[in-house]
Amino acid sequence: MRRRPFMVVAIAITAAAILAICLAALRGVAAGPEATPSPHAIEYLPSISDLMIATIQPRHERLWQAEQDGNWEFAAYELGNLRGAFDRLGRAHPSEHDISFPDMITSVTEQPFKELNSAIQSKDGTAFAKAYADLTAACNSCHQALNHSVVEVRVPNRTSTSDLNTDTRN
Ligand code: HEC
Repeated sequence: MRRRPFMVVAIAITAAAILAICLAALRGVAAGPEATPSPHAIEYLPSISDLMIATIQPRHERLWQAEQDGNWEFAAYELGNLRGAFDRLGRAHPSEHDISFPDMITSVTEQPFKELNSAIQSKDGTAFAKAYADLTAACNSCHQALNHSVVEVRVPNRTSTSDLNTDTRN
């Protein structure tokens, strides 16, 4: 009978240990692939076209939408994000057809980005429209230069906020 307190403590310790092991195992399962990323997941590099669709195109459209809605603050925000997306794209793909991709990006987008920035700062819709058209032309000039002229980007409009022109009739 004198041993009973010891038994209670021993059982409690054993129970606690089993619980700890179960919790650790559960956490391992819950964390899943993130706990040990497979080498393939690390090596996956989205292509230029993946990034165009995911990071460039939607921001090009949102920038237009923001100005249409007169939301200059959001336009400034999207312009900043679009520039950042182009920077990251250039870093992820340092060259294309043996030409420096970041240099190509800068050479065509630098001027329109400057003009867009000052149009947004001065809330000037006319200047914005011109700069936005220049940026859109810059998109297409690179597509043409890299033999992807089939990708024709346009200024969205009230009937379609898409910036993609897939209509061959015009
Ligand atoms: C410096 C060059 C460059 C600039 C600037 C550029 N692009 Fe691209 N873009 C490419 C290349 C290269 C591809 C095609 C990649 C491929 O298919 O391998 C492409 C493809 C695309 C595609 C098609 C992706 C697909 O899979 O359907 C879209 C949409 C696009 N660009 C949007 C834009 C927009 C919008 C802008 C301007 C805001 C822009 N791009 C500016 C180089 C550029």
